[in-house]
Amino acid sequence: MSTQDKHRSAEESNRGLWNEMARVHMGAYPEVDLLRQGREILDEIELREIGDVRGKRLLHLQCHIGTDTLAWARHGAIVTGVDFSPVAIACAERLRDELGLEARFVETSVYDLRTVLSERFDIVYTSRGVLCWLRDLDAWGQLIADFLVPDGVFYMMESHPILNALEEESPGVLSFVYPYFHLPEPMRFEAGGPDYADPDHRLGHPSHEWVWGTGEILSALMRAGMQLELYNEYDRLFFRRYPSMTSEDGRWYRLPQYGGMVPLMFTLRARKAGAAERSVRPR
Ligand SMILES: C[S@@+](CC[C@H](N)C(=O)[O-])C[C@H]1O[C@@H](n2cnc3c(N)ncnc32)[C@H](O)[C@@H]1O
Repeated sequence: MSTQDKHRSAEESNRGLWNEMARVHMGAYPEVDLLRQGREILDEIELREIGDVRGKRLLHLQCHIGTDTLAWARHGAIVTGVDFSPVAIACAERLRDELGLEARFVETSVYDLRTVLSERFDIVYTSRGVLCWLRDLDAWGQLIADFLVPDGVFYMMESHPILNALEEESPGVLSFVYPYFHLPEPMRFEAGGPDYADPDHRLGHPSHEWVWGTGEILSALMRAGMQLELYNEYDRLFFRRYPSMTSEDGRWYRLPQYGGMVPLMFTLRARKAGAAERSVRPR
């Protein structure tokens, strides 16, 4: 099997995992009920860093069960969510209909997006647990640039790449266990581990996860011609990555013993060059 075929087969196996998790998450994500109650589920950081989305066309990559997509719709964006899990897309559509919101959901791998969508967007957004599922970051960077209008904005909120390397092997103590830098093969984690949103659910599928460092993320976007506007790091995270993490609100988790010492999350905003700028760029 060629390396490319091996990566595709790992991705296909991940699709089965995400179909399983989407079913679990409809019952386990607190965001589903918060949306039903009309509450805000987007974080004040992303709301501030993206700014006013009213009337803007927003493409949400790896939208999962559509919770964030629908939250952006409530803020007035014209939203399209894409995800390769048919179960996740069906959940997102059910939630949209239940909430009576306008949103389009498309079942596709990000790598096949050009075969199903042709329009351009003002904002491309992706967040919370997306990068490790991507086998080719250059192709990802290029499709973000291709789907944006000139001057369009890409925004992401994601767990910090340093967390790929760290595990809590003894209670409360983080150690370097995995490589930080990109590996040619995905790491394989066997079935049987707990779901991150419902620890009582034991997963019936393995996961295959690609490791990307900060340099690789930024370089992929810059190689695609995106201009970095902000890159911020935070010491809180959107899920319980380590058992000793604590949370006051059940949505944001911290490592009290490492407060202010370890970055847990980053946000990034990058802009596609505007039409005027592109027309004077030397060939
Ligand atoms: C952790 S979830 C994204 C988080 C989401 N923002 C949330 O918390 O609701 C990761 C999503 O990526 C999707 N995914 C993984 N690989 C993909 C690919 N190649 N193309 C499209 N979606 C993919 C999965 O189906 C899953 O829904």
